[in-house]
Amino acid sequence: MSDPRASSVVILGSGAAGLITAYTLLQDGFTNVTVITRDSTPGGVWADERIYPGLTINNVHGEFRFCALQMPPARDPNGRLSGSEMRDYMQKFTATYLQDIILYGLEILQVLRSNGEGDPGWTIKVQVVKTGEQKALKFDRVVLCTGGCSRPLVPKELSPSAAKATSFKGRVFHSSTFRSQSNHLEAGNNESMLGDVAVIGGGKSAQDAAAYLARKGIKVTMVFETVDAFFAVSRPLPDFIRRSRFLSLLSPHSTLDSRLERFLHTTSLGSNITHFIWKKIIAGSFAAAGVTDHSPLKNTHDAFWGIRINDEGILKPDGFHKLVNAGKIKVVAPARVASYSSDGLVLNNGEKVRADTVVLATGYTSSWHPIFDETTSANLGLNRHPPDPNILKAENEWNNYVSLQSPPHTHPSHEQWASSVYRGIVPANNLLNKDFAINGAVFTTNNGYAFEVMAHWISSYFLGDKNLKLPSSPEEALAHADRNSAWLRKRYPGTLLWANESYSSNLAFWTWPQTIDELLKDMGLATYRSGGNWLTWPFKVIELTEIEHLKEERDAMRKLG
Ligand SMILES: Cc1cc2nc3c(=O)[nH]c(=O)nc-3n(C[C@H](O)[C@H](O)[C@H](O)COP(=O)(O)OP(=O)(O)OC[C@H]3O[C@@H](n4cnc5c(N)ncnc54)[C@H](O)[C@@H]3O)c2cc1C
Ligand SMILES: NC(=O)c1ccc[n+]([C@@H]2O[C@H](COP(=O)([O-])OP(=O)(O)OC[C@H]3O[C@@H](n4cnc5c(N)ncnc54)[C@H](OP(=O)(O)O)[C@@H]3O)[C@@H](O)[C@H]2O)c1
Repeated sequence: MSDPRASSVVILGSGAAGLITAYTLLQDGFTNVTVITRDSTPGGVWADERIYPGLTINNVHGEFRFCALQMPPARDPNGRLSGSEMRDYMQKFTATYLQDIILYGLEILQVLRSNGEGDPGWTIKVQVVKTGEQKALKFDRVVLCTGGCSRPLVPKELSPSAAKATSFKGRVFHSSTFRSQSNHLEAGNNESMLGDVAVIGGGKSAQDAAAYLARKGIKVTMVFETVDAFFAVSRPLPDFIRRSRFLSLLSPHSTLDSRLERFLHTTSLGSNITHFIWKKIIAGSFAAAGVTDHSPLKNTHDAFWGIRINDEGILKPDGFHKLVNAGKIKVVAPARVASYSSDGLVLNNGEKVRADTVVLATGYTSSWHPIFDETTSANLGLNRHPPDPNILKAENEWNNYVSLQSPPHTHPSHEQWASSVYRGIVPANNLLNKDFAINGAVFTTNNGYAFEVMAHWISSYFLGDKNLKLPSSPEEALAHADRNSAWLRKRYPGTLLWANESYSSNLAFWTWPQTIDELLKDMGLATYRSGGNWLTWPFKVIELTEIEHLKEERDAMRKLG
């Protein structure tokens, strides 16, 4: 391929990651960019067909905003954008910048090299959702943006066919279809007769579904073993706490670049301060939510050691936690659902829950599995792999992290977790081909900022920018991914087995600013962009404007050679 800008690039998926990648490539002069999605509107989880009543954005930095387009302020006094505001933003971004490049209504069936291994070019086999017609489309490069929340995870014993086999006559649906179910309810037609509802799961989808149904006056019972942790406050926290590096510094990163981080994580005093603040944050959240020691909502995932936490801000009076406190949502916990019975669910403790309708808020599985055959997956280097025993020793490298002493107990398979994706963006084996990248598989709390920087990194990679620092070989890239995996096993013992691989090639949760700085550094660009002096930098508000001229900065670097 001579001029990379003339090559054809396909972006798989039209969620936030796909949209910003398409935009960035177009801005960089790529002339042949196509986005493919099964959806009929843009936005991925924020697409019109996915958003449901009561859905709001759920993170500290929040906005999923891109530099090129302002986002109107949220109407919610809590400052949270609703699902429909997010949908409108994604639609406006698409209408403004991505007219005519998105092919909607195409289910991606398979992604494979056109002429076998070693030859350039990719074939994307698709099926037209409306007609079932199948086609093969050819492109020079692929960016995989199919996300971690587009393919429902339905445990076998809870599937609709398992329900049928046990003569359960009620309705069973996954939370991913909650929009269409709520449409029926809103329309008040016959299909809206759900009866008593059981919601399975303790994640955010389960909480949203249960709260919505309870607000409609429907009798809801929720079953979960552990519920998501949450941040809640009685009064809004100032931006210099909520939207600065403050929280990211209270979380150790694989490298501790600042003196403050080294103090907080490698000294006993610093570690005590770190854990004290975390405990205060969590205790304050329970207090703000009115969650008492006897409440089932006390049984949350660990906020420090994991990533299963929702930033709720000021809790709504008719939100999930308040509805549970008021007895309007019944909770059966800790328990797991084992199977169906003719009139509801059977739990692992032998108890039964009566239900006419069952909502499977049981999460999502990898969107990658169905579209890559084993050979393509292995040749690319997409698959997880058992850790290299030599790299395993790397875990000792972080033995001086006092804040990581006394981790929670983990499942033995946790030790086998290792991603093969360099920086969470390029499958290591394919590093030198420069024809395949991933956006959206790095789990962060600021998707707008992170996906945009990753899009620039991907564009530099495709363009072959000399100033983009890359490993010199696939082996070196894999060793890097292995080392990062060793770090993640140490840092997130409670979480790695939960997050499916299509959104966890890297986890940059609290520490997303440090991780993004690494990508900026790879591109030879300035880091610590929110500024401040030696005293104020941890509290400087991180603004998207910091990265609004990345294209020009990269152009200038390229000119310098
Ligand atoms: C209801 C809900 C709310 C969420 N809210 C938040 C939040 O507030 N904050 C947060 O940080 N995270 C949230 N998440 C997690 C969320 O998945 C990601 O943060 C975000 O959507 C990632 O964007 P993405 O572009 O990577 O993926 P997505 O938005 O999931 O987009 C993936 C795209 O790929 C397409 N696709 C996938 N497979 C195929 C296929 N085989 N064929 C054709 N098209 C395909 C999808 O249709 C979609 O267009 C939420 C998840 C859910 C389910
Ligand atoms: N913006 C928002 O408000 C919003 C809304 C929805 C989702 N999201 C995000 O989307 C992602 C996915 O969330 P999600 O809630 O759909 O999935 P999830 O977080 O993976 O939760 C799935 C839940 O189902 C439970 N479960 C599975 N099998 C079960 C069984 N047999 N019995 C009882 N419980 C069972 C799981 O428990 P175990 O883990 O114990 O197995 C878990 O609590 C998360 O990142 C979430 O934050 C955000």
